[in-house]
Amino acid sequence: MTEAQFLPQSYSEMPEQGSVTWRAPSNIALIKYWGKHGIQLPKNPSISFTLSKSHTTTTVSFQKKKNNDITFEIWFEGKPAPEFAPKIQTFLERIEPYMPLVNAYSFKIETSNSFPHSSGIASSASGMSALALCLTSIERSIAGVEMTGAGFNQKASFLSRLGSGSACRSIEGELVVWGAHDSIEGSTDLYGLPYPYEVHSIFKNFQDTILLVDKGEKQVSSTVGHNLMHEHPFAVQRFQQASDQLSRLVPVLEKGDLPAFINIVESEALSLHAMMLTSSPYFILMKPNTLEIINLIWEFRKTTGSHICFTLDAGANVHVLYPENEKQQVLAFVRSELTQFCKNGEYIEDVSGKGAQLIANKL
Ligand code: PMV
Repeated sequence: MTEAQFLPQSYSEMPEQGSVTWRAPSNIALIKYWGKHGIQLPKNPSISFTLSKSHTTTTVSFQKKKNNDITFEIWFEGKPAPEFAPKIQTFLERIEPYMPLVNAYSFKIETSNSFPHSSGIASSASGMSALALCLTSIERSIAGVEMTGAGFNQKASFLSRLGSGSACRSIEGELVVWGAHDSIEGSTDLYGLPYPYEVHSIFKNFQDTILLVDKGEKQVSSTVGHNLMHEHPFAVQRFQQASDQLSRLVPVLEKGDLPAFINIVESEALSLHAMMLTSSPYFILMKPNTLEIINLIWEFRKTTGSHICFTLDAGANVHVLYPENEKQQVLAFVRSELTQFCKNGEYIEDVSGKGAQLIANKL
């Protein structure tokens, strides 16, 4: 698989205008991507659950124009949002070789999130994948551009990756692998691949209750964090560890071995944060309440035998993962013991999902 497969065929007939709306979910990594090279290529493979309730909805309206510049306006939750323009400009410049229509139209991009702004939930994955899906739909609608189902999703994932690495895992569900790995056939650094092997039914509708511990802006962006892996003293070992943990996860997913799953997932979360603690400069994204929650999860698991576990993104929020059949018991625990550590007691009851949805199509 090479990048050349994503170069466009010539466009024969381009519509004057149109619009399209996609809703794309966020995702939560079980094996973490942390460290990249080239243009958004991962240093190690990762795998995530696609979520369902945390999502971004984006409408792209387009109008043919004469000049060859990239032209767009960006609206967030009903208001102009020029603060997002630099990231989108970079994204459109990066995808232009694969999608020359970005120069042919002026775009109005209107976007909104299902989760509160600055909730500490990364909106870059859902935001970039929703935008990439809209643009891929526009390209598909242009006569002369053939794209089948898998080809469409692969191109959307490939483009999303150029906006935000983890976004390439937000097109499809329920488990998506990104990054070439010997034990996973078809896996590639270029785009996310729906996990191709058997998955035990215990992982169906896997629950992710997201505890919003700290809602402010992150002190260190993930771009800076990824870059710190270049000179990191433990980088080589970390990339090998992620790859090994993914190998271990394959039979665990097949057999439904929850204790082994918990061990891998929590180790990944703590290893990700260990990279932050040991980079130069070092930094800490966990908050005291993150640790309070982790300790209570461990205690609850020990005393009840529950299969609850946690994972962390590049932030202080805690994702509480557990099988659907423990929902009642775990949610009661979350409400009585854990929400006291959340900002304003806020949390999101999310669950693994099937991927992005086309919402409206005026192409
Ligand atoms: O896609 P980025 O550059 O925001 O990186 C995301 C990295 C983590 O969320 C920490 C891990 C992951 O694999 O999603």
